[in-house]
Amino acid sequence: MWRTTTRFLLPLTAVLALLAVVGHAALTRTTSRWFDADLALRSQLAIESARTSLIAHWDQRDHLVQVLAAITRDERIMGAATCGDDATLVATEAFPQAFTCHAIAREIERAGGEIATWTTTANGASDPVRVTATRFPRGAIILVHDLSYLERREATTRNLLLIAFLVLALVTAGVTMLAARLAWHGWTKQLRRALGGNPTADFRPLVRDVRTLVERLVGEREEGVRAGPWGPERLRAALTHHLQGERVVILANREPYIHERTADGIRVVHPASGLVTALEPVMRACSGVWVAHGSGSADRDMVDARDIVRVPPGEESYEVRRVWLSEQEEDGYYYGFSNEGLWPLCHVAHTRPVFRATDWEHYVRVNQRFADAVCEVVDSADPVVLVQDYHFALAPRMIRERLPKATILTFWHIPWPNAERFGICPWREQLLDGLLGSSIVGFHTQQHCNNFIDSVDAFMESRIDREATAVIQGRHRTLVRPYPISIEWPVHWVETSPPIDACRAGVRAELGLAPDALLGVGIDRLDYTKGIEERLSAVDQLLEHHPEFRGKFTFAQLAAPSRTKIQHYKDLNERIERLADQINRKWSRDDYRPIALLREHHEPATVFRYYRAAELCYVSSLHDGMNLVAKEFVAARDDERGVLVLSQFTGAARELTEALIVNPYDLMQAGNALATALRMPREEQRERMRSMRRLVSEFNVYRWAGRMLVDAASLRSRERLHGRLGTSGGP
Ligand code: F6P
Repeated sequence: MWRTTTRFLLPLTAVLALLAVVGHAALTRTTSRWFDADLALRSQLAIESARTSLIAHWDQRDHLVQVLAAITRDERIMGAATCGDDATLVATEAFPQAFTCHAIAREIERAGGEIATWTTTANGASDPVRVTATRFPRGAIILVHDLSYLERREATTRNLLLIAFLVLALVTAGVTMLAARLAWHGWTKQLRRALGGNPTADFRPLVRDVRTLVERLVGEREEGVRAGPWGPERLRAALTHHLQGERVVILANREPYIHERTADGIRVVHPASGLVTALEPVMRACSGVWVAHGSGSADRDMVDARDIVRVPPGEESYEVRRVWLSEQEEDGYYYGFSNEGLWPLCHVAHTRPVFRATDWEHYVRVNQRFADAVCEVVDSADPVVLVQDYHFALAPRMIRERLPKATILTFWHIPWPNAERFGICPWREQLLDGLLGSSIVGFHTQQHCNNFIDSVDAFMESRIDREATAVIQGRHRTLVRPYPISIEWPVHWVETSPPIDACRAGVRAELGLAPDALLGVGIDRLDYTKGIEERLSAVDQLLEHHPEFRGKFTFAQLAAPSRTKIQHYKDLNERIERLADQINRKWSRDDYRPIALLREHHEPATVFRYYRAAELCYVSSLHDGMNLVAKEFVAARDDERGVLVLSQFTGAARELTEALIVNPYDLMQAGNALATALRMPREEQRERMRSMRRLVSEFNVYRWAGRMLVDAASLRSRERLHGRLGTSGGP
């Protein structure tokens, strides 16, 4: 007890005593100000109430003394006097004799000519007195106030204040000690319970976890400052630092390298996929395993006995584990539920989703097969698994059931619709439940996160922590966060591309255009969400309203065939072909055609040559999670030239604000934007492009992956800590 008193109570009392001294000084100043104001008021009142008598008896000395004596009946006014214009002093008995009318007149002058107040011990007064001298019609009135009253009042205040602070100090110290004892008692009891009820349990593991957590949080901050921009090195370092260099397992339907059998032998194809564009550099940086559908005609020829092939060809820095699907499985899971159900459900592109029970059954079974494949390739009980996209909404829960300690990061690459729209899916609860098996569910934008949380709120039994944007079910917590995806920087395809002039000349020659022809490009999978019809119609509008571009401007649309088994995609293909023909017929002149429709798969090397050759790139998606074509175009233009025309309905439009942002449905606006792009002065192009390049270089895909992995590591540390405490983990 004595120790507690000396270590705690005494310092606290000392602090409070110090506060009392400081407080007292402040209080003295304040009361003195009040006293002055009080005196001035009293003087005025006394003079005003005697004003008539004073004026009436000004020249009758005896009467005047009586009037002044009446004023001094106030116990705080010791004496009173008048000074006439002729410097005659008339005063009460107690008025200090040494005051002269000349001295008083000087004080009034010095104070501005109306009223003067001062304290003095001079002039015959034994104790300090306060004097107020006020100008009056024929001279001045002087009142002398007793200051001992103020000193008495200050002394009383000081004593009361000291007593109050002392009592406060003792009460505060007592209450604080009591609260601290109670809290410590409760906390230790909880810890003991968490550690198995052993009252002598060793707290060291817990302390270690807390230390690790704190070190990691501090490390993260410092690392951000020290490590510089995100790139492969920094991502690798983050993985080593935060996740002990564990190898990452990616689950994604599309594989990064497809082996196709051709007449010339086996060819490696890079699929047209934003997902692959983003994740492949991450895997090259991190190494690990990518579990995917083996969809190439020669894929089986390339794998080992475990169905694994090492990639990239010639570099072999990570593994692809191929999963084989029967035609029925692919039809039901990929073409059916994923692309005829979920794809149109999530995109506002006016295509009705189709939900077939047989497709759903395949979707469930195939998700289980991929989840099993993931569990086979992991090398620990708590691996880091990155589940990608709408093909695998059920896999996170399935993986969690087999690997309860896994850190599962699910990223949804497409938009998430609002709750009302999502609610039309007959298996909405199962999809949400599957996703909530994840540790983190990521989307491109906060809007998609909000839509997801609203859907959970509408259809699931769970608690939602809106501040931390997390969904809590029992002891499990799923964070819901925006992670806007991006591309590698620098893009390796740019580094191996020919110089800009060579690209310009080469592409124009390939298309049969004049060397000075103006060129626009569009690069997409042939998909109805990309707004390709609207894009071609915008070209039509351009030529209609801006005749100077007729015969000069050509738009090259590179469209990779996609999901061709689905009727909607077949119809789209035909519609686009008809529309391009129609526009070409309308504006053709000699061998001029405004639209070059190239419907085939193009390898990235070709795509980047087109980006570098064009005056503009038009991305006209009707709805798009992010759209990496926009970012690739920016990355391709190391000459800081070229204009990006970008749909407002892409996630990218939120970041690339220096693009010409358009509503792709507004054909007139889009046509005018194309004209603006073609007329844009070089300097403006440079400014806009430079700013967008700065943004994409910084917010690149390494940062995207790094942030997710760092968040996952935080979550993991917290869960370990809370696991020991027996509480549910905070965000
Ligand atoms: O953007 C959605 C998405 O699934 C991406 O993940 C991928 O880039 C693209 O569509 C490709 O689709 P698919 O794999 O069906 O060819």
